Parts: sequence; structure tokens; C-alpha cells
Amino acid sequence: ASAPLVLGIETSCDETGVGLVRGTTLLADVVASSVDEHARFGGVVPEIASRAHLEAMVPTLRRACDEAGVTLADVDAVAVTAGPGLAGALLVGVGAAKALAWALDVPLYGVNHLDAHVAVCALDGGPLPTPCGALLVSGGHTSLLHVVDVASDVRLLGETVDDAAGEAFDKTARLLGLPYPGGPAIGAAALEGDPTAIAFPRGLTAARDLERHRFDFSFSGLKTAVARWVRACEAQGRPVPVADVAASFQEAVCDVLTRKAVDACRTHGLEHLLLGGGVSANGRLRELLAERCAEAGIALRVPRPRLSTDNGAMVAALGAHVVAAGLPPSPRTLGGDPSLPV
Ligand code: KG4
Ligand code: ZN
Repeated sequence: ASAPLVLGIETSCDETGVGLVRGTTLLADVVASSVDEHARFGGVVPEIASRAHLEAMVPTLRRACDEAGVTLADVDAVAVTAGPGLAGALLVGVGAAKALAWALDVPLYGVNHLDAHVAVCALDGGPLPTPCGALLVSGGHTSLLHVVDVASDVRLLGETVDDAAGEAFDKTARLLGLPYPGGPAIGAAALEGDPTAIAFPRGLTAARDLERHRFDFSFSGLKTAVARWVRACEAQGRPVPVADVAASFQEAVCDVLTRKAVDACRTHGLEHLLLGGGVSANGRLRELLAERCAEAGIALRVPRPRLSTDNGAMVAALGAHVVAAGLPPSPRTLGGDPSLPV
């Protein structure tokens, strides 16, 4: 008999994602994004995201079923992101998942968004190489994980103490007059710039910070340093060297992310590292991480970009793993938890 058909629903931020997975086989991955509606505000507006999820949910479910060539009646289990994420956005997905699970009389699994970013790697390259490290970098999170089993034992080694890495890209892009989302815009501008032009700060890397924050990140000081630099240029009446600032900023972010991820793997004896989240689309991050992992003898795995950003397939992938592990379903009273821990 084939593995159960698992439906995954993701609505933690601005992407309405529905995925269908059997075991580690991806059958459908449909994403409707409200990113364009947030662009003029320079960041995700929670109320707009929630309304967009509500409007996109049924069409997205329908398209996913069509893509996989199945009907809802074929679904054996429903998985949904229960957190972390935007409170109102989470409720739309959880509400839809509960209604479906009840109507179809199948088990419901509320899962963690970060664990799902890890689990999705199984859809691209086969079963997870556990135990492994995982670096998750997006607009909403920046976390370093030690994954023993993605369904039952994921340990948080460190996370950002202020802005997420993607958020730092977005805010810095705004300072430089570049469009939202800022990551791709900064990445493109940086190609023309000199990454050594400006020595921007590397947050939480000083000896005094390492004792308590060895695997944590901080990007708000970096953002402030960029703002100060831009203001100084303006005060002196000279043009802001956008490409050099973008390249130097990007280098500071990538340097810290890669240094700490490799240090975490070494410290915990992990021979594999997974990279996930929207910022993993950054060319310099991939390049530097590949270089430093190779030096340290760590095997790096990065799923294709489409699976790295928020989507429903990652939730279905984790759901399939949880079902296979025989873990109990969530109660029908499941809610959304904006700060759900891993
Ligand atoms: O995972 P994602 O699609 O959504 C969440 O935030 O959860 O990540 C979006 C973030 C945005 O902050 C965006 O600026 C950043 O990923 N991003 C990038 C690149 N592409 C997207 N950051 C740096 N370089 C990129 N090429
Ligand atoms: Zn995410």
C-alpha cells in the first residue's frame, strides 16, 4: 500500500500555501502570495495578510488538488502550521484545516513552521541526514537548530535577538531607496559593489557576547550603522554609494550567519547542515556557506528555491513524517500560537 496522502496548509505570513505529499513524494505545491499588496508599506501588514489568506484559501486548495490529480476525499491526514507566525494569519489556516479534517473525518496535525522548513528538505534529495544542523533565515525568523528527529526532537541552539535576517535586508533596502522585498534588490545591487568598502558591525561576535550568545544573531545594530552611513553622506552632500553599501551590508550578514552555523555544527558534532527560508535565495550566502562548510567537512543541503520560501508542501512533508512516526494527532480544539517554540 502507498503512503498516506497528506494535505499541508501554510498561512503564517503572507503566503497562502497548499501542498500534497505522499511519504517524501511531492504531488502538489501551490502558493498564492499577497507580497504585492504589502509592497507600498515596506513590510507585511498583518490585517492585509489575513484577508488575503481568507480569499485565497479555497482557490488554492482547489488548484493543489487539480495539480496532484486527486480530490479532497482522497486525503488521509491534514497538517497545518500552528505557529510561529502572525496571529490572525495563522487562524485562517488553522480554521480551514480543522473544518477539512472534521468534514473528511481524518486526523489533524498542527505543526511548527520552523520544523516544516527543515522537513521540506526530504522532498528534495531524500530522507533528512539526521542528526544535522539547520540554518533558517527568512523575513520572520533567523534560527540555528540541532535536528535529531524533525517530528520529535528539534533543539533551538540560537536565534535572532532583534530583527530577522530578511527583515534586515528589507529595512536596509528601504534606507537605500531600493524596492520591497529588499533581499533580491540588495543582492542585485551588491553585484556591482565592493563588499570590503565599508566595515559594518558583525553582531554578537565579540568575545564578551559569545559566552551567552554564541549561536544567537543581532542585526539591528547593523541596520543602524547603515542608517548612520546614509545620513552622513546626505549631510556631506555626496551621493550614497548604493552598490558598495549593499555589498558591504550583505557581506556582514552572510559572514555572521555562516560563521555561526559552521561553529554550531562543529561544536555539536554535526556532519550535515540544511539551509532554509527565503534568504537562502541569496547568492553570496550560498557561496560563502558552501565554502566554509567544505573547509569544515560539513555536507550542505539546500532545497530548490521554490521549496525554501514559505509553502504548503513543507507543512505536508512534516505532516507525512509525523504520521509515519506514529505521533498522536492534535486535538480538534487546536489554535494558532504566534510564538510556538520548536
Ligand atoms: O521565507 P520567506 O519567503 O518568507 C518569510 O519571511 O517567512 O522569506 C522572505 C524574506 C524577505 O525578507 C526577503 O527580503 C528575503 O527573504 N529574501 C532575500 C532574497 N530573496 C528573498 N534576502 C536576501 N537575498 C535574496 N536573494
Ligand atoms: Zn518561513
